[in-house]
Amino acid sequence: MVSRNQHVMSRDMPEETERLAADESGISRAAELLAGGLLVAFPTETVYGLGADARNGIAVAGIFEAKDRPSFNPLITHVSDIDRAKEFARFPEAALPFIRNGWPAGLTLVVPLRERSGISSLVTAGQSTVALRVPVSPVAQDLLKAFNGPIAAPSANPSGRISSTTADHVMTGLGGRIAAVLDGGMAAAGLESTIIGFRDKLPVVLREGVFVVSEDIARITSPADTSVRVESPGQLASHYAPSGLVRMNVRVAAPGEWHLGFGDIKGNASLSQDGDLREAASRLFALFHEADAEGEERIAVAPIPDRDLGRAINDRLRRAAAPRPAHDLDD
Ligand code: TXA
Ligand code: MG
Repeated sequence: MVSRNQHVMSRDMPEETERLAADESGISRAAELLAGGLLVAFPTETVYGLGADARNGIAVAGIFEAKDRPSFNPLITHVSDIDRAKEFARFPEAALPFIRNGWPAGLTLVVPLRERSGISSLVTAGQSTVALRVPVSPVAQDLLKAFNGPIAAPSANPSGRISSTTADHVMTGLGGRIAAVLDGGMAAAGLESTIIGFRDKLPVVLREGVFVVSEDIARITSPADTSVRVESPGQLASHYAPSGLVRMNVRVAAPGEWHLGFGDIKGNASLSQDGDLREAASRLFALFHEADAEGEERIAVAPIPDRDLGRAINDRLRRAAAPRPAHDLDD
């Protein structure tokens, strides 16, 4: 686990971002930093990704912090090959042609997560699906092999800015906020991966991107219809919220409420006893699941400071606290 001092350092003080060459020593240094729970930007054939160990919730929380993201959305997990992908997820029949004829590629598949996959619930935003991608880029492949584990990575740019296609872009946007950038030259495509999910046994394009679904794949997957359905952005998977009612900014819980603490407010379970926002972010969805598993119907949450990662935590809590349409609850 990353020490508290490191959190404070990365948040408050400029940190020297190492620029690593994409050679053997640079790759092994990048893998070592990732294993230490730090953030490393790396090239893929689409755009540069801002990587963290997908199994380390605190490291993943660091991604949202470095990007200054005001909300949690699920991240793509990068793996070296199909066998590794199958360790983390189950692939429906309709996904097989995409794996066989597509990967490695700028193609991300959203598939059911395996139980005890070890992937942090912050990566999936608590959902039961995971977005997996096997990249082509030799540098990304070398890094995945050296690290020997799953790397969660959104595009390596500050929130609301355009994606980075060179190490210089990464340095300009995130220099001083991340441990290193692996310089693999220009990302060839400069456009994000195509994201495909599966619904009612049919592929659904969740985001258009560099990967063009070939006639071959389309024919195998949906014989009656050669065009894969595209969902409008408004229909993108709704994020996980507990089934219990959520009340925010609660110092003293009412009788019958399950109290989620923070800092000095102990609660029935705590997001972070140290009042550490990174730890709180890394535990948020896991604690939602715990509340569900315990059948808690009313959840009170201690006040969370509305700064840094606290903004994203409060955004998620506000959504969980807002009245929800029924279909939002079964995702
Ligand atoms: O080319 C790319 O895809 C780059 C490189 C670094 O791989 N990554 C990228 O990540 O563009 P990001 O975080 O900027 O976009 C990831 C998208 C988000 O729109 C997110 O909502 C969606 O993937 N996503 C991730 N997991 C999902 C899931 N379980 N269900 C639905 N959508 C998911
Ligand atoms: Mg992006």
